[in-house]
Amino acid sequence: MKLAVKFNLFLIPLLLLGFVIAGFILHTVLQRNARHEIQDRAAIMMEAALAMRSYTVKEVRPLLEVQNRRNFLPQTVSAYAATQLFNTIREQHPEYTYKEATLNPTNPRDRAVDWESDIIQQFINDEKQTFLVGEREGGTGRSLYFAKPLRIKDPNCLKCHSTPDVAPETMIKQYGTANGFGWKLNEVVGAQIVSIPMDIPITRANQAFMTFMGILAGIFAFIVLLLNTLLHSLVSRPVNQITALADRISKGEEGLPEFQTGGAQEISALGESFNRMKRSLEKAMVMLGG
Ligand code: HEC
Repeated sequence: MKLAVKFNLFLIPLLLLGFVIAGFILHTVLQRNARHEIQDRAAIMMEAALAMRSYTVKEVRPLLEVQNRRNFLPQTVSAYAATQLFNTIREQHPEYTYKEATLNPTNPRDRAVDWESDIIQQFINDEKQTFLVGEREGGTGRSLYFAKPLRIKDPNCLKCHSTPDVAPETMIKQYGTANGFGWKLNEVVGAQIVSIPMDIPITRANQAFMTFMGILAGIFAFIVLLLNTLLHSLVSRPVNQITALADRISKGEEGLPEFQTGGAQEISALGESFNRMKRSLEKAMVMLGG
């Protein structure tokens, strides 16, 4: 088997193995980073919702207490404020959603749909569960959801959510008595659910992966080419030359040129020894002939 073939049979599988391992590691890291990025974004959106809720309760509601008695203003309700805030964000980013999904909601737009009910049920079944993260296929592609339970911890909530007779009259006038009542202290009534599109960060991660693998393939191909060229000029070509020369000498040709030494040290030394042997042989032939 030719030296170059042997050499490539060893080198190319080795580089291919390196290529596959590097690809596997890179793919894992990029996908994980993309998911982390999406999760961070979801966590920030959740923080914004919570901030909006507390702002409404602390700063807006007290100012409008009196007006609320005359005419109920949903703007003073934290759930309404957080939902409206995200509806504004959605005008620019329709794939992002925020919902205070509730099993028995005051406002029908907050009613949990099937997959949201499953999440709420998980929070009801496991008290220690403080959040849930998952992925689902939606109308606009794959998305990640981040959910937190809506638990009634403050007895003040029950003023408006326990029974219609204790709720503000102005509120009943607007919302009726059919929904959003019967909630109990410490009960999980729903879940705040943030949904973030995954397609863009995942596509970006895939593009980075393809670019890197393309560059790596280019580098590996270049290495194979370079090593083959070096092998040819430093080893194969001079060895073939010595072989051809030795062949001709062995067949009795005379007056052949010397082997041109130079190049790699080992080949050069071989060439010098060969030339010495050639000279000795020629001398011996002359002595024999003479
Ligand atoms: C002043 C009355 C009032 C109080 C007090 C109140 N809520 Fe509400 N809540 C409402 C109204 C009205 C809505 C519907 C708002 C809308 O139109 O989006 C609502 C909506 C909600 C929603 C969204 C689901 C739904 O029912 O539409 C959640 C969750 C919620 N409230 C939780 C709470 C919690 C928790 C507290 C206590 C910290 C609380 N509420 C205190 C009146 C109140």
